[in-house]
Amino acid sequence: MRKRFSKLLITGGAGFIGSEFVRRAVREKYQTCVVDKLTYAGDLRRLKEVKGKYIFYKTDICSRKQIFKIFEKERPDAVIHFAAESHVDRSIKNATPFMRTNVIGTQMLLDASLKYGVKKFVHISTDEVYGEIKKGKFTENSAFRPNSPYSVSKAAADMLALAYFRTYGLPVVVARPSNNYGPWQYPEKLIPVAIKSVLAGKPVPVYAKGQNVREWLYVSDCCDAIFLILDKGKIGHAYNIGSGEERPNISTVKEILKLLKKGHDFIKFVKDRPGHDFRYSLDTRKIKKELNWKAKTKFSLGIKKTVFWYLKNIHWLKSF
Ligand SMILES: NC(=O)c1ccc[n+]([C@@H]2O[C@H](COP(=O)([O-])OP(=O)(O)OC[C@H]3O[C@@H](n4cnc5c(N)ncnc54)[C@H](O)[C@@H]3O)[C@@H](O)[C@H]2O)c1
Repeated sequence: MRKRFSKLLITGGAGFIGSEFVRRAVREKYQTCVVDKLTYAGDLRRLKEVKGKYIFYKTDICSRKQIFKIFEKERPDAVIHFAAESHVDRSIKNATPFMRTNVIGTQMLLDASLKYGVKKFVHISTDEVYGEIKKGKFTENSAFRPNSPYSVSKAAADMLALAYFRTYGLPVVVARPSNNYGPWQYPEKLIPVAIKSVLAGKPVPVYAKGQNVREWLYVSDCCDAIFLILDKGKIGHAYNIGSGEERPNISTVKEILKLLKKGHDFIKFVKDRPGHDFRYSLDTRKIKKELNWKAKTKFSLGIKKTVFWYLKNIHWLKSF
């Protein structure tokens, strides 16, 4: 397929999802620039297979001066903006870095993209902007009712990005993925926490009774969708990205225990997260119809691949 863009600037490319996107962009021969502050969540080991094949800037997206300098030098055709503070529990303890990076940082990138005439700005948002839903599914037109400081900061960034389209005509498209899982996820999120705990012989902490429901999306399927959005997503539009595979957290943990041949005595119920969203669920008819995307990886296969990846890369898991 002929590429519509040759030079990509990818923020947060040393993170979990961003690194999957960068590895693939390099393999697909895009000129690839990565901007990442390397917070606790950023790790260049995720990019070792493409080492030397991308340009790297260790930069805070909130630094207007640095960001403008990078855009001046690189003149990217398209920006794919993953960089964020991404963990809900941390946002509950301290919202400041979330408002700073997720809102102000996004604004800096939008301003630089306007000034340097970026041809497409793909903003990575989240299903959490819609808040929780007991029954039914969120469409792209559902109201935003975010509940955690994290999801509020992401909702603000999502709206800001679309406001730059409406107000200034910046060619913005928004992606709203559900919960991702797969190799290289930092062990603070449910699936790698569960695997790490079991491998250390420790119980797996599960909030409340584990009934909260998440829609699990394998990270490479998410990146397939983001590449399609980059290529063909309509300017000024948002696209939900979900797998349709909803599971209560307890069943996700039990699946991991089964794969690691451990019993349910490894489950430890802990006090619920304050304001914990009960369920997220996305209507994905738009991306299926317009971009011909659908998740390829069934949870039963994705979780196997993930557990085996962590077993093979146990040194990485234990290094945190
Ligand atoms: N992981 C999920 O399940 C999920 C689901 C939906 C949406 N998202 C969104 O996808 C994006 C990527 O998520 P992830 O799970 O890969 O996150 P992550 O926490 O693994 O990675 C975030 C990356 O951003 C970098 N970063 C943080 N602050 C920065 C700053 N000020 N300047 C420059 N770089 C900075 C970090 O160093 C890290 O490499 C985020 O925008 C997140 O909100 C994630």
